[in-house]
Amino acid sequence: MFGRRSNEAGNQRRALPQAGAPAAPAKVGGEVKPVAAQPSQPKAEPVESQRKHSEEYYDVKTTVFNALIDTIDLTQLAKLEAAAAREEIRDIVSEIIQLKNVVMSIAEQEELLEDICNDVLGYGPLEPLLARDDIADIMVNGATTTFIEVGGKVQKTGVRFADNAQLMNICQRIVSQVGRRVDESSPICDARLPDGSRVNVIAPPLAIDGPALTIRKFKKDRLRLEQLVKFGSISPAGKTLLEIIGRVRCNILVSGGTGSGKTTLLNCLTGSIDTDERIITCEDSAELQLQQPHVVRLETRPPNLEGEGQITMRDLVKNCLRMRPERIIVGEVRGPEAFDLLQAMNTGHDGSMGTLHANSPREAISRMESMIMMGGFALPTKTIREMITGSVDVIVQASRLRDGSRKITHITEVVGMEGEVVTLQNLFVYEITGEDANGKIIGRHRSTGIARPRFWERAQYYGETERVMQALASSEVRDELGNTIGEHHG
Ligand SMILES: Nc1ncnc2c1ncn2[C@@H]1O[C@H](COP(=O)(O)OP(=O)(O)OP(=O)(O)O)[C@@H](O)[C@H]1O
Ligand SMILES: [Mg+2]
Repeated sequence: MFGRRSNEAGNQRRALPQAGAPAAPAKVGGEVKPVAAQPSQPKAEPVESQRKHSEEYYDVKTTVFNALIDTIDLTQLAKLEAAAAREEIRDIVSEIIQLKNVVMSIAEQEELLEDICNDVLGYGPLEPLLARDDIADIMVNGATTTFIEVGGKVQKTGVRFADNAQLMNICQRIVSQVGRRVDESSPICDARLPDGSRVNVIAPPLAIDGPALTIRKFKKDRLRLEQLVKFGSISPAGKTLLEIIGRVRCNILVSGGTGSGKTTLLNCLTGSIDTDERIITCEDSAELQLQQPHVVRLETRPPNLEGEGQITMRDLVKNCLRMRPERIIVGEVRGPEAFDLLQAMNTGHDGSMGTLHANSPREAISRMESMIMMGGFALPTKTIREMITGSVDVIVQASRLRDGSRKITHITEVVGMEGEVVTLQNLFVYEITGEDANGKIIGRHRSTGIARPRFWERAQYYGETERVMQALASSEVRDELGNTIGEHHG
């Protein structure tokens, strides 16, 4: 049988080297042994995300695991395909169980096998979380604490790692798949899981209580506008409005806080782009899933270990302009690329879009402004503001409310300048009206009474005025006499 080492059928038990890349053998007791993962910590707290096992189960697991490590050659195993490797482990584990006279039900045996495979081949205790589709984020704060976000709520799980070394090794395993390294000398690292999930690792000494691993789970099917309507994130009329804004080539900024749904919303907006347009996307970590046939996807690159070879977002956006794009989509604007995106928006690439981190449309404007100022462009504030006004048509604001629900709270137009101040006009807002007994926020999406948005001419050009009018009119709030009530301020 493959990878089996001769006469060591698992009788000795000894301290194992820590989990890690199987490619780096460690010397144990004078003999070169492959480095292996340790079984996860026996003491799992009861949690919904991990079944609780008896102490016995964990004892057996440790015994079987150690025997397996003694028996198998992990460097060889690493060369196998996942399915074949699992098969191999299955055979050996069954044999060990027989050899050691372990009494176990078939179901328990299956579970044990799964656990051991996860530890040897995968991401150990993270596997059950990674397998779940309902989780948005996984946040590991050192070996003993892991939080997840499910349905907008952050909750603690009982998932834990043997120790920080095992966690660190799993982090290392994740980032090495994309050719990166994380250790004390380069303790910050972005990476991606094979399934597309976005990963960030920050290790000690920067993270004081052990490695912090954050995973934004990749949704195979990104949410679409219809689903956002179903979740109450936007009303049907608001959806129509967003579709039109996306289609008629308004330049759009999606603004929102961390995890508020910016990327999701941006992805939804790209859904209404016509299929014959050439679209170029620039992202730090490819998350967007465009449906159109003519898309070029670009991704930034961090510097290598020697500090060379970095390609910034600004490099990408600038390069885009030489690629004959019709629309440029920037995953997240965080720095001087703001300038290049505005220029692109201003120079015939209307319909470009990007997200940025801000808590209101007004703040989005000032964030944009400060990004340009900090980029070292020696421009007077007024000029920067004029540039913003001349480029950005619409700001769509996403928010995660205190009850965990995500809402589109503003569809706001950039109207112009009054003196030195950028004027904004809300077309569509979410108004909170109360809270139910369970703390769930009650509210409504409404239009603000503006009949003719500034993008009217564009809408006309695309034959969408009728739909715009209907969407806005149907969302008006009226008093008893039938008069439109304007937007509630304060
Ligand atoms: N309207 C929504 N309703 C429910 N879940 C949503 C909604 N919008 C986004 N989500 C989910 O919330 C999570 C975060 O969404 P997304 O990645 O779009 O946020 P983000 O603002 O781009 O985050 P970041 O700031 O980290 O880039 C995802 O799992 C996504 O599926
Ligand atoms: Mg995002």
